[in-house]
Amino acid sequence: MGKFLENAWYVGAWADEVGAAPLGRTLLDRPVVFYRRADGTPVAMDDRCPHRFVKLSGGVVRNDEIMCPYHGLTFDAGGRCTHARANEATRDRFVLNTYPLVERYQAIFIWMGDPALADPALIPEFKFFGEPGRMIAGKGTTYLKANYLLEIDNLLDLSHLDFVHAKTISNGCVTEGQYDVYQRGTTVHSDWFIPATKAPVQFADLINLSRNPAWDGTKAEMIVDHWLDMRWDAPGTLYLDVGVAPAGTKRAQPIDMAQAHFVTPETESTTHYFWIYSMTDVGQGQDMLDFFLKVVHIAFDEEDRPMLEAQQLAMKSNDFWAEQPMILAEDAGAIRARRVLDKLIREEQRARPNGEAPVMEELVEAG
Ligand code: FES
Ligand SMILES: [Fe+2]
Repeated sequence: MGKFLENAWYVGAWADEVGAAPLGRTLLDRPVVFYRRADGTPVAMDDRCPHRFVKLSGGVVRNDEIMCPYHGLTFDAGGRCTHARANEATRDRFVLNTYPLVERYQAIFIWMGDPALADPALIPEFKFFGEPGRMIAGKGTTYLKANYLLEIDNLLDLSHLDFVHAKTISNGCVTEGQYDVYQRGTTVHSDWFIPATKAPVQFADLINLSRNPAWDGTKAEMIVDHWLDMRWDAPGTLYLDVGVAPAGTKRAQPIDMAQAHFVTPETESTTHYFWIYSMTDVGQGQDMLDFFLKVVHIAFDEEDRPMLEAQQLAMKSNDFWAEQPMILAEDAGAIRARRVLDKLIREEQRARPNGEAPVMEELVEAG
């Protein structure tokens, strides 16, 4: 079976990473170069010159065209070679693949499969962008020497917060909560609810700042209802609604940190993990936002990353199921997502012309 779902939107870069100068990045094992045309439209095409295969991203962009750094072949934003000196006839035979892009949620989504199927409406919705009463508070990218599914497993099993992040973003309450998994179509939800618990420290800071009278009675004891609702859409788009409300109020007057996680394979064993989060606006200043961003970097880069990379090393390049992992109740969301994704990849490969897909033998029926 091919490694990746091709007909899907992946985040290829943050919007502010792509400018007039070329940006080279490997996505789904393919080299891609991004740049912006003078009118601001982003462009993505193969980052591989058809002449001697060097990376076009090492070249320069001029008049919306990119010039190869080796012998100067030039390609327009449609991937057509526009300048090859005296080789006009040869020139027209080579057209680089270009990729549909959508700029949304501060990110650039790329479609690496059949361009005719690239419908922007397929990008999952993140309502918190631009919502009144909240701010986009931080974002970053974590590069992982691990398969992208290990990151998705991690996000769909937040019981790890109580162990991996015990010194940063967890006070150990997640695993005391109720865990619920359900599926709508191909969307998997993996939710934790912890009633009447001590607010994790980052929320306590926001509660203290809140001028909403609904929170006045909570400030002394800091007992809240706390939820972490994770939504996954294939292949690697996740939405986390994580928040608190005064205990017993059914999430009225929430303070939350709604966030998006975009997990994109670089290769089979390396991953670009893009994350961005918002916060309810309680008048927190830049100092608090800066401090929190540092904490998140520690959590993702120094706590999750070593765990995932060590996991990958332990698995070598072996298939996940062949390793016969022990399945716990809290794995239900991650297992469900893996099954959905396997099925989508198989279906995509079967649908391909001449695509007698080498089908994965059997999905391990587990969980
Ligand atoms: S390798 Fe690009 S022009 Fe020769
Ligand atoms: Fe984590």
